[in-house]
Amino acid sequence: MGVRFRGWGSAVPDRVVTNDELSLTLDTSDAWITERTGIRERRVGGSAKSLGVLAGQRALAASHVGVGDIDFLVVATTTPDRITPATAPLIAAEMGLTCPAMDLNAACSGFVYALRTAHGLLETGQRRILVIGSENLTRWVDWSDRNMAVLLGDGAGAVVLEYDATGTDLLSFALGADGTAADLLTCEHDGYFQMDGREVFRRAVRVVVQSAEQALADADVKADQISLVVPHQANIRIIQAATQRLGIEMERAVVVLDRYGNTSSSSIPLAMVDAIESGRVHTGDYALITGFGAGMTWASAVVRWS
Ligand code: COA
Repeated sequence: MGVRFRGWGSAVPDRVVTNDELSLTLDTSDAWITERTGIRERRVGGSAKSLGVLAGQRALAASHVGVGDIDFLVVATTTPDRITPATAPLIAAEMGLTCPAMDLNAACSGFVYALRTAHGLLETGQRRILVIGSENLTRWVDWSDRNMAVLLGDGAGAVVLEYDATGTDLLSFALGADGTAADLLTCEHDGYFQMDGREVFRRAVRVVVQSAEQALADADVKADQISLVVPHQANIRIIQAATQRLGIEMERAVVVLDRYGNTSSSSIPLAMVDAIESGRVHTGDYALITGFGAGMTWASAVVRWS
């Protein structure tokens, strides 16, 4: 059974909020944020629905398929516009899709969890699936809390996955979850994001490395064959530490967090689309996609681009 990436697209709000702008109201500085996280600015605005619609429409256009060609919509989001209904049916309605549509929440691992889910759906007879990661994280940010406010941003990314009997782009997955670490990163219904940053950092490097090694072994691909790492965009130091432990040069990692901050389920597709559009992806290349997030959850996949 094979799965191909047929097309992709992304969307971010127009409003740019720089570190200097945050420093006007918070006890922080561009130097601290840049040095500790790698983030220089983030985009703020929109909704999970509006950003998801734009990214989804762009992915359909790039795939040269119509709304009637999509069998299923999976939307990875940590920040649905409402508790119910899910965001996916709202996006589907706006796009003119009439297929089944559902949300999936695995926090910042959500996009890879959604790829895994779509892969399973394609295995059982669906033919084309639209997978969207869309987040409006800044709605749940306490702008007086320097711990969180400097980290998060809004955006969306989408791919169309298509069944192909002749070969596959998705070679392996390694997913996991550990709910005993749930309290490390939370957002209550009426609250804001809160996090034990140091502990999340420590565990993130560990689970990224472990799941990446598992996915590489399952795909029978060696670290030195990986041309591109598409990591979750939380902190440049996490990406540096993980690639170093995996024995992959940092230059192979895609980094967009300097422009977008941490956009949770959207960060991996935003990075993936950026890499494709800037010419960093070539036919036959192996890529490692890897993320981690609240839950804790983690998820890696090995891809061979066709
Ligand atoms: N500006 C200035 N100072 C800040 C600050 C900010 N925005 N946020 C925290 N500080 C201060 C702290 O209060 C602390 O001061 P102290 O030494 O007087 O106590 C100091 O900076 C160091 O804090 P610390 O938490 O040790 O910094 P850090 O190097 O661990 O960086 C994070 C903090 C949050 C950037 C980092 O831990 C991180 O990225 N963790 C992982 C987060 C993550 O990946 N989350 C997403 C999961 S999907």
